[in-house]
Amino acid sequence: MHSAAGAQEDGGKITFHVLACSILAATGGLLFGYDVGISGGVTAMDGFQEKFFPEVYRKQQGFVDEDNYCKYDNQRLQLFTSSLYMACLLGSLVASRTCTKYGRKVAIRLAAIFYLAGVLLAATAANLTMLILGRLLVGVGNGFSVQVYYLFLLRAVPVFLSEIAPSKARGALNILFQLNITLGILNAKTVNYFAAKIQPWGWRLSLAYAGVPGTILFLGSLAITETPSSLIQRGHLDQGLAVLRKIRGIDDVGLEYTQIVKAGEDARRAKRPFRKLLGRSSRPELVIAVALQVFNQLTGINVTMFYAPILFETVGFKSGASLLSTVIIGGINVAATVVSIVLVDRAGRRALLLEACVQMFITQTAIGGILMAKLTATNRLETSTGICVVILVCLYVMSFAWSLGPLCNLIPSEIFPLETRTAGIWCSVTANMIFTFLVAQSFLSMLCRLKAATFFFFAFWTVLMGLFVLILLPETKGVPIDEMAERVWGRHWYWKKFADAGKDIHTAEAAGVTAVAP
Ligand code: BGC
Repeated sequence: MHSAAGAQEDGGKITFHVLACSILAATGGLLFGYDVGISGGVTAMDGFQEKFFPEVYRKQQGFVDEDNYCKYDNQRLQLFTSSLYMACLLGSLVASRTCTKYGRKVAIRLAAIFYLAGVLLAATAANLTMLILGRLLVGVGNGFSVQVYYLFLLRAVPVFLSEIAPSKARGALNILFQLNITLGILNAKTVNYFAAKIQPWGWRLSLAYAGVPGTILFLGSLAITETPSSLIQRGHLDQGLAVLRKIRGIDDVGLEYTQIVKAGEDARRAKRPFRKLLGRSSRPELVIAVALQVFNQLTGINVTMFYAPILFETVGFKSGASLLSTVIIGGINVAATVVSIVLVDRAGRRALLLEACVQMFITQTAIGGILMAKLTATNRLETSTGICVVILVCLYVMSFAWSLGPLCNLIPSEIFPLETRTAGIWCSVTANMIFTFLVAQSFLSMLCRLKAATFFFFAFWTVLMGLFVLILLPETKGVPIDEMAERVWGRHWYWKKFADAGKDIHTAEAAGVTAVAP
């Protein structure tokens, strides 16, 4: 069966509209990355701390005696970072309904409006309430745009998925979204580096700069037309057909039109995708899609992305050096994501993940070991030891960026069958947001309580991830999406049992024994 996403088009061209939509989707990644990357540097800026967290500022300046590991242990400071991800979660919830009811164009426009309002509030914040409110609105905007992006990639750009990206190049295409996230992060780190030199209000500049991708998103939402699949699924068949012709640049779009209509009917019949998702036959996809996102967060990447400047100041770096180190780390994050694009469809998903587990385990344990041996409650690390920590963080980020970073999104997007794809990916992205929130809200407190052993905690999760990949993650490289059940689950020593359950249901359905209940 062909889905709209997996449709074979009638030979359309890459039109201006397809390009405009792709740029818009890319902006969603840049936007998200900017917000991931900006908070760490901002929380480390003196002017920001003095204004919103004077108690942290006094400890950090040495006016009040405090254990090295506990200077930043402050729930409200953590809330500044974490609140965005909770809001993002709520945003993505509302967004999927908005998309279904009003279409993706409206959803993108709403994303941009929430986002720009949040940026304005945060950048002009006079007090902590305004600041957090601003972050919450930015989070809702992000939730909308991430959700729209996934719906967009899965349904609205079939030409990329089926023609330009056949299964053997699917991985590379999908990773472009993650590449945009990493570029957004690098952009944020660079802005922070320069903004920190403008004291005491450079942080306002860092937060305001997010308005640039936000404005692109807003203008883009005015320029694009609604996607054909969204129009057709909402019953506007003639309009859908006209838009399809326009974006493909040809008149003869009959086959694709029929496929989109059929996919729409399937989607309407699929009244209970979540129920199906919780059923036995969806177990392999669901467990893998959620577990990868949990590992994505619990192996500690956002400790670096959110808190590296604070971490480097904790080990004794001056503010400028610590922000510069994060720019270097941001660059490595981008470069290693490109490596992943090159390797993912050759080496395969498992090889990248297994290599990364080893590299992440060694680097996290080494960081923990060095801090345990050298950083007491009151001293500063020698410069050479500090540099060693930065190099280890770089090696850690490198391995994450060519494996778990992109693959936690790629693998879920290729394993679900059409009936459960949107619901399955929603669960996967939601798991990511929840665990991002938890890590953001707890790392500085963990560091204060567990000290250097915090890094052993994250290393422990890399071991669990390695075992999971070895035992439960089959290779999906080059397998067409509609052959997953037979070629991947059906041949796996454990998931086979669940694939059989699925087969039984399908056979019964085919024989008309049960109603179709996708
Ligand atoms: C993670 C983000 C993280 C980013 C870093 C993504 O895969 O989900 O939380 O900040 O990678 O590049």
